[in-house]
Amino acid sequence: MIPKDIEVDLNRSSEALPKADLMTRLTGAQGLICQITDTIDDEVLAAAPGLKVISNIAVGYNNIDVGAARRRNIVVTNTPDVLTETTADFAWALLMAAARRVVEADEYARSGRWTRWQWDLLWGLDVHGKTLGVLGFGRIGRAVARRALGFNMRVLYHDTVRAEGAAERELRATYASKETLLRESDFVTLHTLLTPETRHLIDEAALRLMKKSAILVNAARGPIVDEAALVRALTEKWIAGAGLDVFEEEPKIHGGLASLKTNVVLAPHLASASFDTRKAMAMLAVKNCLAVLDGRPPLTPVG
Ligand code: DGY
Repeated sequence: MIPKDIEVDLNRSSEALPKADLMTRLTGAQGLICQITDTIDDEVLAAAPGLKVISNIAVGYNNIDVGAARRRNIVVTNTPDVLTETTADFAWALLMAAARRVVEADEYARSGRWTRWQWDLLWGLDVHGKTLGVLGFGRIGRAVARRALGFNMRVLYHDTVRAEGAAERELRATYASKETLLRESDFVTLHTLLTPETRHLIDEAALRLMKKSAILVNAARGPIVDEAALVRALTEKWIAGAGLDVFEEEPKIHGGLASLKTNVVLAPHLASASFDTRKAMAMLAVKNCLAVLDGRPPLTPVG
């Protein structure tokens, strides 16, 4: 798929390149295909005067200084759509696992402690018929909401812009203020991009608005949640639980979260990690890069 006249400098390690190495290797490059673990800031861009395109293999692009790229006429692309359904599946996996205590159940079943059917063993929370609050009603938020139809749930959503009537009707979703959504939802799931406006969108005040029986799901970006406040909320039982795929300082997980075994389900940033989706993301990133190098418009530019 790579045309013969294109020279590829591949980082074969599974680790991100140290910044200095990245800068050296970008000196003569026209295209960059990168991942969310690569920080592409103005300093990196200054080292790459010939760069025409930065193709991120992710839908989120908070690892790239998009403004700095624009000022240098560098196109930035991401990989939306191809990961929408897989990411929504995983948000639901976290939601279900946290509500029905699947991780604890697995651990208990393997432990040798299970001796008989037990009436009061590992009771959890119902999902069907409850209220789902979706914060961020873009592609992934809507895909998560669509799955709630099958669980006969009431869906509230909040975003900066209200969705079209047709989408609200199709998904049986009701627009609500952030505060109403937090107060009334049994499950709150986050699907916004990480921007200065959404950093700590879920802070202490937001967590205190949530029901004591509510579960928070985050498969978007860690810093959307104030992790220290979340640890207090879970420890002091302001909310019932959380399912988290992303963390404020990945791959570091707040000690307070890691030590909570009964009401938190943790995953190492896996939401788009299915065989098919990761391949589709890589293919789209390559196509975006090649399009720009070829003088064509990219398939999925950012912004
Ligand atoms: C994304 O696409 O932004 C994910 O977080 C990484 O796959």
